[in-house]
Amino acid sequence: MPSVYIKTYGCQMNERDSEAVAAQLLAKGYTLAPAEAGADVILLNTCSVRDAAEQKAIGKMQNIVAETRRARPGVVLGFLGCMAQSRGRQLIDQLPDVDLVLGTQKFHRAAEYLDDLLAGRRESVVDVGTEPGSEATIREHLAAGNTAAKSVSAFVSIMQGCNQHCTFCIVPFTRGEERSRTIPDILAECRELIDRGVREITLLGQIVTSYGKRELPAREGRSGFVQLLDAVHELPGLERIRFTSPHPKGYGDDLVEAYGRLPKLVPSAHIPLQSGSDRLLKLMHRGYTRERYLGIVEKLRRVRPDMGLTTDIIVGFPGETEADFADTLSLAREVEFDNAYIFKYSPRRDTPAADLPDQLPREVKEERNARLLALINEIGDRHYQRFVGRQTSILVEGPSRKNAARLMGRTPCNKIVVFDGSPRHLGQLMDVRVTRAGSFTLYGDPAIIALD
Ligand code: 5AD
Repeated sequence: MPSVYIKTYGCQMNERDSEAVAAQLLAKGYTLAPAEAGADVILLNTCSVRDAAEQKAIGKMQNIVAETRRARPGVVLGFLGCMAQSRGRQLIDQLPDVDLVLGTQKFHRAAEYLDDLLAGRRESVVDVGTEPGSEATIREHLAAGNTAAKSVSAFVSIMQGCNQHCTFCIVPFTRGEERSRTIPDILAECRELIDRGVREITLLGQIVTSYGKRELPAREGRSGFVQLLDAVHELPGLERIRFTSPHPKGYGDDLVEAYGRLPKLVPSAHIPLQSGSDRLLKLMHRGYTRERYLGIVEKLRRVRPDMGLTTDIIVGFPGETEADFADTLSLAREVEFDNAYIFKYSPRRDTPAADLPDQLPREVKEERNARLLALINEIGDRHYQRFVGRQTSILVEGPSRKNAARLMGRTPCNKIVVFDGSPRHLGQLMDVRVTRAGSFTLYGDPAIIALD
């Protein structure tokens, strides 16, 4: 049977989509290749958030073409996901060796198209249309070849698309309008995962706090998203619930209160900030102010003082002045984020911000990126040091990435703890004592509980 190699760029949603495509192909008898060399099908699942991400995937495809096409003319090459959606046929015009361009609402048709391409029934396929009901098609999880490391924590897609239209962002074009799966459908998938040993579920969507906005009216002051959290929380055998990414606008009192009410909902949140300047937040069409953002953080910390907070920040948005940037620095200092992902603004086609005056030169973006990064690292170091000497509970996911002889797990607030463990610890919730803090990593010993 043909073997497939899938390389994924970008966010967790893309990882999740790649897993679903892999599972679909395995079910149809394909095998997964560990590397491009020797694979019969090579697929790049792409990201469009910044131009650099697109160029990386295009460059990669050019290399693949150079390396494989002449030696193995029958190899099928494809782009999937966000860049496939936003560029469509243009990708084949630019790279005529590409056989398949499959958009974000068409992942479930990958096997059918690959069968046709491999059998020579079609020359090439470009399918980037919209498909009603596609939000419910991404659900297969990797069955075969799944490791214990992967199966204790799983992603479940709850909605797709985004209606927010932030002025910098291409996602509404690549992922389409918001579409939510039903609660029974999501619960059925969660139950299946729990039966297979999953203990932690991360609910995924471009903007999870908009879950069920149209379909599920608020009940007793609880939004559709909070109703979903309540329902998932009821599932026996599940230990931890996470979600990503929310929008700050979604942090109403019902969600804040859920952190106090639902013990399985971990005290951890990734809340994209983008900027600390009210002027820029308005230009970005974010729908909140600096004060409102700080208010959310304060409320969350009141309910869960151990709340871990991470964020996304854009530097060098058009017209960002030194004063605007200073507002971002001061907000980062005030919140004391555990970590932040910093993005240098990249103009995206068809987005309003790309046409704003005062696009900033690369050097300014680089320089602000470096200053913000230094601050985030400094705050992170301080924050992580505070954990030394403390005992914390971790869910053991698998071998540490840097040293496979050691294991890694995550604290409830989503910090990685590396420790010397044994295979019997895999998939366990266990207590460790933190002995040392490194750069955005904690090191620990399995805790020995003193009996007195
Ligand atoms: N330029 C730079 N960063 C961007 N992001 C989204 N669009 C852009 C862009 N045009 C960042 C935002 C978002 C993260 C996933 O990517 O910070 O939260």
